[in-house]
Amino acid sequence: MERSLILLKPDAVQRRLMGKLISRFEEKGLNFVAMKLIRITPELSKQHYAEHAEKAWYPTLETFITGGPVLAAVVEGLDAIQVVRGMLGATNGLQAAPGTIRGDFSSSRQMNLVHGSDGPDAASREIALYFKPEELVEDEPTITKWMR
Ligand code: TYD
Ligand code: MG
Repeated sequence: MERSLILLKPDAVQRRLMGKLISRFEEKGLNFVAMKLIRITPELSKQHYAEHAEKAWYPTLETFITGGPVLAAVVEGLDAIQVVRGMLGATNGLQAAPGTIRGDFSSSRQMNLVHGSDGPDAASREIALYFKPEELVEDEPTITKWMR
C-alpha cells in the first residue's frame, strides 16, 4: 500500500467540484485516510513548491494557491502515487488527455484543479507538511484487502 498527498486547489473549491473530484478518487478504489479544508499560507506554499520557488512563474502560483481554501487529503492504495498522477493527466489542462481530471475540467496551465505527489519521497515530505501522524486513520476497509 502506498500513500499520496492530494490537494483540491482553490479553483476546484470555488468551482464546487470537490464532491465530483472526491468521487473520482473513491470510484477508482483509493481509500481516503485524512482530509481537511485549509488556507495555504505563503510560507507553506514555498515549502510545498520548494522545487519551483525560483521559477519565473512561482509568484503567480503562490498568489493562486494561497487565494482561497484548499482541500488537503491523503489517499492510500496500491501504487497510489502513480494511479493519482495518471488520473490527473498532464500539468497543462490544455494538453491533458480527455478522461483525466485536468483534461476533463481544466483549460489552464496554472489552474489545474488537483495536486498529486509525484513520487515516494515527495509523498512522505508533503504528507508531513499538511498532516500530523495522528491525523491519518489506519482503518483499512475490507474491500481493499480483497483487492490485493
Ligand atoms: P509541476 O510540478 O510542474 O506540475 P504538477 O502539478 O503536474 O506536478 O508544477 C506545479 C504547479 O505549478 C502546476 O500544477 C501548475 C503550476 N505551473 C504554472 O503555474 N506555470 C507553469 O509554467 C508550470 C509548468 C506549472
Ligand atoms: Mg509537481
